[in-house]
Amino acid sequence: MVHSVFRGRFLHFFENPHQHGDSAWQYLEDGILWVEEGHIAAFGPASNILRKIPKSLQIRHKPEHLFLPGFVDTHVHYPQIEMIAAYGNQLLEWLRDYTFPVESKFADAAYARAVARRFLTELLRNGTTTALVFCSVHKASVDAFFQAAGQRNARMIAGKVMMDRNAPEVLLDNAEDSYTQSRELIQCWHQRGRFHYAVTPRFAPTSTPQQLTLAARLLTEFPDLYLHTHLSENQAEIEWVKRLFPERTSYLDVYRHYGLVGPRSIFAHGIHLHDSDFALLAHEQSALAHCPTSNLFLGSGLFDLASANQHGIKVGLGTDIGAGTSFSMLQTMAEAYKIQQLRGATLDPLQAFYLATLGGAKALSLEHKIGNFKLGKEADFIEINPEATPLLRFRSAHCNHLTETLFALAVLGDDRCIAATYLLGQPQHYPD
Ligand code: GUN
Ligand code: ZN
Repeated sequence: MVHSVFRGRFLHFFENPHQHGDSAWQYLEDGILWVEEGHIAAFGPASNILRKIPKSLQIRHKPEHLFLPGFVDTHVHYPQIEMIAAYGNQLLEWLRDYTFPVESKFADAAYARAVARRFLTELLRNGTTTALVFCSVHKASVDAFFQAAGQRNARMIAGKVMMDRNAPEVLLDNAEDSYTQSRELIQCWHQRGRFHYAVTPRFAPTSTPQQLTLAARLLTEFPDLYLHTHLSENQAEIEWVKRLFPERTSYLDVYRHYGLVGPRSIFAHGIHLHDSDFALLAHEQSALAHCPTSNLFLGSGLFDLASANQHGIKVGLGTDIGAGTSFSMLQTMAEAYKIQQLRGATLDPLQAFYLATLGGAKALSLEHKIGNFKLGKEADFIEINPEATPLLRFRSAHCNHLTETLFALAVLGDDRCIAATYLLGQPQHYPD
């Protein structure tokens, strides 16, 4: 049965609660969301909205469930799902021993299509409705991804990895081909339906100056493209960048020098940054994708959320599968909290849920389309059962405040809590 009206508990954000306090968010104990043609036609307290709803419309009424805008994963690698939980190494060795061998399988388009379908299913099972996605170096891996996302009609951003040095021969393109192939992919997929293209040099060490120059040329040739790459994740990586680009003042300065730092640039990690880097990111309105499960798993370091916030930098959360260890943005919030604990700082529950929804949408410059329940936005949302496990049920019974419930949900919850995921109001993952 397809519902157009949803009734239950609702939480969403208008702004960053870190800056705007209690006016940044809204919680309705008994709210109604009315979806028409995939967009939000009405939203508010049930007492206001109920009388406006035609009797003919089906209402899905789940008083105990919590409706949220869909989660936004601002950094993830779809080819890496088969090597999540690969033991024992930090970044550079992990790439050499696990990542590159797996990504070389994506030369096979049929394999890429099968993995892309599985990846989309897993995202939706976890309540993630939009993601910024690394494909592999193979052009067909991007086709496979967007085709799979098109079957679900999900709003997605993705791109072909550009990589012309310092990786196995079978995974290398060259600067000219990476430019031409990216261009063809942009012409095919960018702004088609709900899709956007991200120019995706893997990271500075695997691109020649010529490739970085051509990546920047794409950004000037097409409007509204994204730039997606990695930045300052690991100390050995940073030392390597210094050796490869000795004339640049920092890792971020490499990207700046080649024209890759702008308002639609999203940098994954950004753990070890100088104050001048934070200032540049803020000035250019670029975004950071904070990937806590990955940073802990690879032993990369502890993200400085306080400095990012102080500089007013856009931050989203990323799973960074397969260095990340969970598709669940609930688990990702929990690990983000623990990272702040290790820094002697904190991440309060409202800020965490903001980062996973509207914060992610803003990091991806998509806040006019998704991220909360404002009228006219696309109806990508999730329905959470906050008591999906025996332990959560028991713990919830002892929660006295919304923020307590949210925090327990993040720390103890995962895919089992996602009762349904809706894209444009249509159920995509609907266990019951
Ligand atoms: N840096 C360059 N490539 C990668 C990757 O695939 N994963 C992570 N976590 N960092 C990277
Ligand atoms: Zn990554």
